[in-house]
Amino acid sequence: MKQEYSLISSAPKPFVKWAGGKRQLLPIITKHVPQKFERYFEPFLGGGAVFFNLAYKRRDTKWLLSDLNSDLVLSYVTIRDRVKELISALESHSTSYFKNQSSYYYKIRESEPKGQIEKVSRLLFLNKTCFNGLYRVNSKGKFNVPLGKYVNPNIVSKENLIAVSEILQSRDISIKCQDFEGALKNATEGDFVYLDPPYHPVSETSNFTSYTNGSFDYGDQERLYAKFKALDKKGVKILLSNSKSEEIIDLFKEFSDNVIEINANRFINSVSQRRTGHTELLIKNY
Ligand SMILES: C[S@@+](CC[C@H](N)C(=O)[O-])C[C@H]1O[C@@H](n2cnc3c(N)ncnc32)[C@H](O)[C@@H]1O
Repeated sequence: MKQEYSLISSAPKPFVKWAGGKRQLLPIITKHVPQKFERYFEPFLGGGAVFFNLAYKRRDTKWLLSDLNSDLVLSYVTIRDRVKELISALESHSTSYFKNQSSYYYKIRESEPKGQIEKVSRLLFLNKTCFNGLYRVNSKGKFNVPLGKYVNPNIVSKENLIAVSEILQSRDISIKCQDFEGALKNATEGDFVYLDPPYHPVSETSNFTSYTNGSFDYGDQERLYAKFKALDKKGVKILLSNSKSEEIIDLFKEFSDNVIEINANRFINSVSQRRTGHTELLIKNY
């Protein structure tokens, strides 16, 4: 397949800081991406680090992106379709924030806007100003992270939002809010799937599963394994990230010849001592 570099003004990168974001691991992950594929599926999209990196370099691919977090999916759609209005709303948040950081932050955190621009600008504003840039909601779906300690957060990131908007408009992309199983229903031979689910916890305390107000439990990891097997049978190429935990190693033992261990840093963790290197896994079927 021919690879062309696009004319997009600058390389787009994730517009949200997301737990489990893959920016730091891009060199190793992209090394394992197959050279040729017809369609790209990323059903745990999050901040989309891997997608942005690949889509910047490839034009003739169809991109099927999805995530279960509806606010996140709405953000992608809004950046694609209404980026100018979004930038204006973020500029207004930025001005008000710098007048009185704490009171403005909590006022916006407590607000429940209904309009598209208001909802998305709220998410991006909170993501840039909250503690550790962590998107976390409680069991009622309410964002509950305290104010961060940033001196001068870049709330607007105009150039990147424009680059993201341009790439979302110029590629053949579908972006949906759905569970991974539905998203992968039509994947077939010749397609490539990158799976980056919420990781199976390696210890009781490291459990981070609150990207949405549901949680991703061991039953979901088994469901994911069943999907991995079914896609493998169909001849789909699959690359999966997950924790180096006993349960995951055991679940994927049939693919143990294609397991790569990588050293990663977890930056999103409120206990700073835990921001040390740890090992995680890449599992392939090719
Ligand atoms: C590890 S994060 C992905 C990180 C992403 N690769 C990045 O670079 O930012 C996992 C994502 O899976 C989503 N998710 C959780 N449960 C899901 C499900 N059942 N189906 C699809 N997506 C789900 C979460 O909303 C979250 O965005």
